Amino acid sequence: GYDISKLLKETGNVTLDGGFTNTASCTSAITYIDGDEGILRYRGYPIEQLAKQSTFLETSYLLIYGTLPTTSELEDFEDRIRDHTMLHEDLKGFFGGFPRDAHPMPVLSSAVSALSTFYQDSLDPFDPDQVEISTIRLLAKLPTIAAYAYKKSIGQPFLYPDNRLSLVENFLRMTFGVPATDYEVDPDIVKAVDLLLILHADHEQNCSTSTVRLVGSSHANLFASVSAGINALFGPLHGGANQAVLEMLERIQSAEYSTDEFMKKVKDKEDGVRLMGFGHRVYKNYDPRAAIIKDTAHSILEKTGGGDELLEIAMRLEEIALADDYFVERKLYPNVDFYTGLIYKSMGFPTRMFTVLFALGRLPGWIAQWREMIEDPTTKIGRPRQVYTGEGERDYVALTDR
Ligand code: ACO
Repeated sequence: GYDISKLLKETGNVTLDGGFTNTASCTSAITYIDGDEGILRYRGYPIEQLAKQSTFLETSYLLIYGTLPTTSELEDFEDRIRDHTMLHEDLKGFFGGFPRDAHPMPVLSSAVSALSTFYQDSLDPFDPDQVEISTIRLLAKLPTIAAYAYKKSIGQPFLYPDNRLSLVENFLRMTFGVPATDYEVDPDIVKAVDLLLILHADHEQNCSTSTVRLVGSSHANLFASVSAGINALFGPLHGGANQAVLEMLERIQSAEYSTDEFMKKVKDKEDGVRLMGFGHRVYKNYDPRAAIIKDTAHSILEKTGGGDELLEIAMRLEEIALADDYFVERKLYPNVDFYTGLIYKSMGFPTRMFTVLFALGRLPGWIAQWREMIEDPTTKIGRPRQVYTGEGERDYVALTDR
């Protein structure tokens, strides 16, 4: 009931782009995406090469500092992270305040937010040394926080980090190990988790990264900004999609409805049902990360066993979608989340931990983007305009006269 072009003019000739489908919010030298061609590069390096040859911490270094590290730079980076994996004992106590059945994502974001209270010596966004130590603390502590959130949910005691292990080995041990019992870390699982973390490490101005930048643009510290990013990632249209995919596959497996019935619901948009793990704002071609993950899904599921039936359902859904006009016309292809849940499940992660794993992977991207934003002298506080569509001026009516 309003004339949008008139309102736009009245607001001072602003652009209205809800969902920012066509608005760049910043310049960035970190990640390049060509959605039509299905290309993803971190600092110029194709994702396929990094997936094959790099490690998560090396990729983190690349994203944050802009270059591939030398051997000594990488060792130094890994050592510094190793020095900070412990959580303050009082922060450990913090987990006791959550209900046992709490979802680990809000536990994660709360604990990261609480880091601002424990490390008050590293909150100045314009002191490079403080930003550096906050960076290391976050990279080191997030896996510990994530493992504690999980242990809390299953009522098991926390395991302290064992710094003889790598970041991923340590995370797996703290998650699945039991005190006073040896935990054998399977190198194939470590490699697969490391790969998945690399694939999630950055994706330019997605919802959570834009959130980190927007919060940081007010000069909020790195912990506060990343905590906000974790909350943005929690949503089912973003990082929460990996959990939603698995729940969808399990509903089909439990014969709540057949694959064909489900696809009909999706195409009829019945109750807003979507094929979770499909579609992407930027990729209008196959998501290059999904292509790599699909191969990993096969090899890991072969190793871990179980989940085969779910993988078959997923492949059947993909097959139907790729040959169906509804999906083809809308350029809907599997995204990064379509196969990840299956892999995580087969490794023994409960569904609620899937998005936490996404957060662990995305962390270096959030940090790199926040630092790029803070270091750019042209950055202004993020403050979009709006187009007002409400009432014109009217006089207040006393309560007794309404
Ligand atoms: N299933 C069925 N239909 C879909 C799907 C889907 N997964 N995704 C989009 N569509 C349809 C929409 O209904 C719409 O149809 P219409 O033109 O008839 O109205 C059209 O495709 C365009 O969809 P939009 O919602 O406008 O696309 P947008 O770019 O806003 O959304 C998004 C992208 C959120 C990823 C969407 O594709 C979606 O909801 N996918 C499922 C959730 C998901 O997998 N999210 C993970 C994204 S990747 C990530 O965060 C790592």
